[in-house]
Amino acid sequence: MIKLTGKKVLITGGSRGIGKAVAIMCAQAGADVAFTYKKNQEQAEKVLVEINRLKRTGLAVRGDVASFTDAEHVVEQVIHHFRRVDVLVNNAGIWEYGAIHEMSPQQWQRTIDINLNGVFYFTRLVAPIMMKQKSGRIVHIASTAGQRGEAFHSHYAASKGAIISFTKSLAPELAEHNILVNCVAPGWVRTDMSARSLVEQKETILRTIPLKRAGEPEEIAGAVVFLASDLATYINGEIINVNGGSVLCG
Ligand SMILES: NC(=O)c1ccc[n+]([C@@H]2O[C@H](COP(=O)([O-])OP(=O)(O)OC[C@H]3O[C@@H](n4cnc5c(N)ncnc54)[C@H](OP(=O)(O)O)[C@@H]3O)[C@@H](O)[C@H]2O)c1
Repeated sequence: MIKLTGKKVLITGGSRGIGKAVAIMCAQAGADVAFTYKKNQEQAEKVLVEINRLKRTGLAVRGDVASFTDAEHVVEQVIHHFRRVDVLVNNAGIWEYGAIHEMSPQQWQRTIDINLNGVFYFTRLVAPIMMKQKSGRIVHIASTAGQRGEAFHSHYAASKGAIISFTKSLAPELAEHNILVNCVAPGWVRTDMSARSLVEQKETILRTIPLKRAGEPEEIAGAVVFLASDLATYINGEIINVNGGSVLCG
């Protein structure tokens, strides 16, 4: 039912976790998939193998999303190989501890550079391509933290809250170009990012999730692929929470 046949998808941070699940699910749906990574070339190559096994074309480009120059290089490579970008998934992000009374400006800036500026850079570079195409889908990965805040992670929550208002700004701005902009907001998901907390604070965390378990990366990818598909032609500026209901009781 969900098909992305022939679509060209670009995902930031596709070597691991949620981005990897999105990359593979997009390829399963028939898309060719380009993705970025920062350090993990070995993991990136494994994702490429999985995409190729699905008989789709994959492209992995190393780059730091916090660098506009790197983002320009990535987008150039994608256009060189794919000629177009039908779907942009702004996924790459970090989640670091930071109590406000000891957070350095550098710590604050690092999170904003990666989580927020990276989203701006890729959207800034891909939007004109989609405008020329007169079609496109942009899906940002936010977080429950961007809606209800997160103690000791205020820089993270601020970056994700900003992504939500960025989404709501661009949805009406780009609608006339047939570009739909939406957000998926995961709760706790079992990836490298959350692995330690999900062990060390297991009971506390599970108490906040009505479904009593963390999500799997594929459960986030499902919402992303839906938003990229023809089943979502009238959804614009929406924030889809995929968190086992935890926003309701957090
Ligand atoms: N996991 C959760 O519980 C959870 C909850 C809510 C929201 N989210 C959001 O979901 C997104 C993905 O998280 P995840 O859990 O899948 O994270 P993850 O397992 O830590 O994977 C992060 C991915 O982003 C890439 N990346 C990190 N920093 C980068 C940078 N500066 N430039 C380019 N790529 C970079 C990594 O590349 P390398 O492999 O090369 O390092 C990797 O592919 C993030 O935006 C996160 O905030 C996650």
